[in-house]
Amino acid sequence: MSPFRITRTLPEDATDASLRADVRRGLTKSPKTLPPKWFYDAHGSELFEQITELAEYYPTRAEREILVDRAGEIAAAARARTLVELGSGSSEKTRHLIDALTGLDAYVPVDVSESALTQAGQALIAERPGLDVHALIADFTTVLALPDTPGPRLVAFLGGTIGNLLPAERARFLASVRALLAPGDALLLGTDLVKDERVLVRAYDDAAGVTAAFNKNVLAVVNRELGADFDPGAFEHVALWDAGNEWIEMRLRSRTAQTVKIPALDLAVDFAAGEELRTEVSAKFREEGVRTELAAAGLESSHWWTDGAGRFALSLSTA
Ligand code: AVJ
Repeated sequence: MSPFRITRTLPEDATDASLRADVRRGLTKSPKTLPPKWFYDAHGSELFEQITELAEYYPTRAEREILVDRAGEIAAAARARTLVELGSGSSEKTRHLIDALTGLDAYVPVDVSESALTQAGQALIAERPGLDVHALIADFTTVLALPDTPGPRLVAFLGGTIGNLLPAERARFLASVRALLAPGDALLLGTDLVKDERVLVRAYDDAAGVTAAFNKNVLAVVNRELGADFDPGAFEHVALWDAGNEWIEMRLRSRTAQTVKIPALDLAVDFAAGEELRTEVSAKFREEGVRTELAAAGLESSHWWTDGAGRFALSLSTA
């Protein structure tokens, strides 16, 4: 049996139907919004990789520091024989974990991108002979079942991506993860932390404008997939800190009054001059708040690790 298996849990046309529904719902309500999942076409994924290397964008480096410094402790605490990674992407972050998880039999990367899963899976098999890779093509918020692999499992949800979910969405997501876990399984969760507003805003509005291009890329996705006529130049990138909700918001502000046509949805969308379309929230966390949200989902926190500068945290919790 091949050590690399890939299972499509999303129907082939799921993405198209999902994009159409998100665009129709998000651009016909007030305030307008689009979900951040649509940033990540091939160009958006490349722009995000560039963002992770920006001087202003500290989260990736901070999380990597924790993974490198604490991989042994994480492995000793989790003793996992299966590593599940939600939103695995390139699995670059996970290599530190996989190297430390010496008793690992199986790796279950979950991502919507079949190409990312295939590339990462094949590379890992070459590096770790004997490791079974069961890749799942799925949106990490809709994973209903995991392949039958040896326990205990460690589910990793890294990068701070949980911050893209609004509080109610996070509660539902964490409860769905809890439902996937058997007693003794664990969740390793990456969370960016509340810090100086200027540091936060700079991380989402870098001097080189890479994040601005990343933000505007969602307009190119809607243009390509739904035949819309968004002019990215007619929108301005906005990154702001919402101190009440303790999250960064990315928005696209319409420079003028304009109407955007979306033929595939038979829709014409009016923007007033200065009107802002919210494209992402990125929530920032405090230790107590994370413990509370995990406990509400039935997960008991056992470990909390931060990078040396206290910018980012990994928490381990058990079912
Ligand atoms: C990949 C969702 C963790 O929220 O920091 C980076 C995406 N947005 N710059 C984040 C992002 C703007 C990133 N996550």
